[in-house]
Amino acid sequence: MATAADTIEAPPAPPPPAAQPYLFHRHALLVRVTHWTNALAIFFLLMTGLNIFNAHPSLYWGPYGASADAAHRWLEIGSKNVGGEARGFVRVGDVTVTTTGVLGLSTAPNGGPNPIAYPSWATFPSYRDLATARNFHFFFAWVLILNGLAYLGYSLVSGHLRRDLLPKPGELSPANIAHDIVKHAKLQFPKGEEAKRYHVLQKLAYGGVILVLIPLVILTGLGMSPANNAAWPWILDVFGSRPNARSLHWVAANLIGLFIIVHLLMVVLAGPINEIRSMITGKFRIDPEKA
Ligand code: HEM
Repeated sequence: MATAADTIEAPPAPPPPAAQPYLFHRHALLVRVTHWTNALAIFFLLMTGLNIFNAHPSLYWGPYGASADAAHRWLEIGSKNVGGEARGFVRVGDVTVTTTGVLGLSTAPNGGPNPIAYPSWATFPSYRDLATARNFHFFFAWVLILNGLAYLGYSLVSGHLRRDLLPKPGELSPANIAHDIVKHAKLQFPKGEEAKRYHVLQKLAYGGVILVLIPLVILTGLGMSPANNAAWPWILDVFGSRPNARSLHWVAANLIGLFIIVHLLMVVLAGPINEIRSMITGKFRIDPEKA
């Protein structure tokens, strides 16, 4: 016979506690300090580098590189007179692009025309001053080298490089990379547990900058420097010649510039306050995944 207890429904189970956002320790102190030191050094290196480039705005590939070496010149940024009108241009190989206003010919701070490869707003100092630009460039190059050695040493010893930055074998599958590209294109950034780790595109970009571009820019820079070349002549032998080292230095610096643009864009899109706070205090807010 049914009793009252059989007919009374069991009370509904209480809902699970709502997942709350919490702070997660994401970046070690040494990573944070070296990251901002690196950002400052690269900022000055790029701007002083453009000033130095302005002193001879051509690049060559081969054993020699000077104004007369047209045969070895593969890139030139300059200005020319076309039908009585001054035009800025960039020439790569046989292809010439008009770049008036930005490259080759821009506006000087006093409002007049400035026939110079990189505009004054992109260089440090903002006027032609090879000696000052070189002094700052070499100072920050040593900051970059020493800071980079501290970061790499820490990352190797602590396991940060292997654990957080190098892609795991499965992550490099074309399907996983394609999946990550599609998620980025839809501006969907990881949430919950997934947000604690770098995704594969981030690992490839960071790894490429740390292990390829920055070492390349340092080695080609050391190779071009007469004093360092005397100490380590093998560096230039690797690149073949000083003009080759200068060309690769410029290409690597441009790729680092491109990385910075994408890096900053991603920081803004992923949530700049949480992202930048994590690189300052180490703490990153994890938002629970929506069911
Ligand atoms: C003002 C400029 C910069 C800002 C605001 C910035 C911001 C950030 C933030 C927020 C992160 C953490 C990303 C995350 O946890 O998901 C990060 C990581 C990183 N950034 Fe930057 N960054 C700047 C400049 C640079 C520059 C110039 C470089 C190198 C060329 C660079 C290379 C890196 C690398 C390699 C990491 C990963 C570090 C690690 O985990 O070991 N950043 N950056």
